[in-house]
Amino acid sequence: MNLIELENKYLPAIFPKRPVILVKGKGSKVWDIEGKEYIDCVGGNGVCLIGHSHPKLVEKIQKQVEQLIICPYLFYNEPRAKLLEKLAQLTPKPLEKTFFSNSGAEAVECALKLARKYTGKKEIIAMKRGFHGRTFGALSATWNPKYRKEFEPLVPGFMHVPFGDIESIKKAVSDKTAAIITEAVQGEGGVIPAPNGFLADLRDLCDKKGILLIIDEVQTGLGRTGELFAFQHWKIVPDILCLAKGIAGGIPLGATIASAEIFNSMKSGEHYSTFGGNPLACAAANTVLTIIQEENLVAKSKKMGSYFLKRLQEEIKELQIVREIRGLGLMLAIDLRLKHKVFVLNAVEKGLLLLTSGSTTLRMLPPLNISQEEIDQVIDILKEVLAKS
Ligand SMILES: Cc1ncc(COP(=O)(O)O)c(C=O)c1O
Repeated sequence: MNLIELENKYLPAIFPKRPVILVKGKGSKVWDIEGKEYIDCVGGNGVCLIGHSHPKLVEKIQKQVEQLIICPYLFYNEPRAKLLEKLAQLTPKPLEKTFFSNSGAEAVECALKLARKYTGKKEIIAMKRGFHGRTFGALSATWNPKYRKEFEPLVPGFMHVPFGDIESIKKAVSDKTAAIITEAVQGEGGVIPAPNGFLADLRDLCDKKGILLIIDEVQTGLGRTGELFAFQHWKIVPDILCLAKGIAGGIPLGATIASAEIFNSMKSGEHYSTFGGNPLACAAANTVLTIIQEENLVAKSKKMGSYFLKRLQEEIKELQIVREIRGLGLMLAIDLRLKHKVFVLNAVEKGLLLLTSGSTTLRMLPPLNISQEEIDQVIDILKEVLAKS
């Protein structure tokens, strides 16, 4: 039985799959089992901020594996202590304390529990087209009925309002509202940046009503959009910040960051994770954050993102099948007039891996150090694939 048959036999058939067996990655490229090279705009679902197998990360992980892999919260440990300090330095005040978990959904779970605990209120307002993960709490904040419906009843107290519509949100707020949760740029929802002024209005509303503002930067965080955190584009600071995906370069790690005051509302034992903050993930994350700084990846994301967007607008937008091009930094989308499936598979044939949103949007989350030449190659392949419609 070959590898594709083996996976298909034993893996539940609950994900879309592409017929590619990946064996190696380096920078923005990956190779399949037959040695075919691809430009990777999937980037491990947006995880590969620093590219695949960055030599410094590989070295650090190898060293840490030999030293200590697990160290529960019960004990102290250097990689965790240093990462806590680094995150406190990188995030604006009053964000200061971090709870580490193992995924984006878990980072959101912690944020939701914190919001209820700190405010003593139950209701959470989330956004239409928002995505926050698939565990029960995170799923309750996620909008798409396709992900939710079969699993109801979900956690009570959640409601969804139109993203960007502050007046609807004002109407949805009550004296029971604990928090408003939103992405700064909706990822799964199709790469939709918050309209100008929206996050500032939300911040203002939350301040006036004593509501916590949770910004889920699992997909947008750490340089993806051309700022270290996407909320910086709109000059606001959330009360609770969720990170995951690229923070540890592919080793699972989620982070929920809030002020000491907010975290102090939780008592010992009210939240925990066995693997959370393990030395391997924390050592990897320290190295990823150092690489992002040393290699100016946030500035590169802004510069290469603008270049990518400009070329898409100049050369792809005009194709008949293209409805709209959107993007911020290296988070980009091409909205098509037809279903994306055949184009995604044709791109695979030509050596390009693409992510999607919904059924008609192509999404690209390449490494932040993707080169201009690689972007040019992506444009050439897209032109070929999309012109054939
Ligand atoms: C904004 C956002 N939040 C949460 C999640 C869930 O993350 P995970 O799949 O690591 O649980 C995702 C995943 O794509 C995401 O994009």
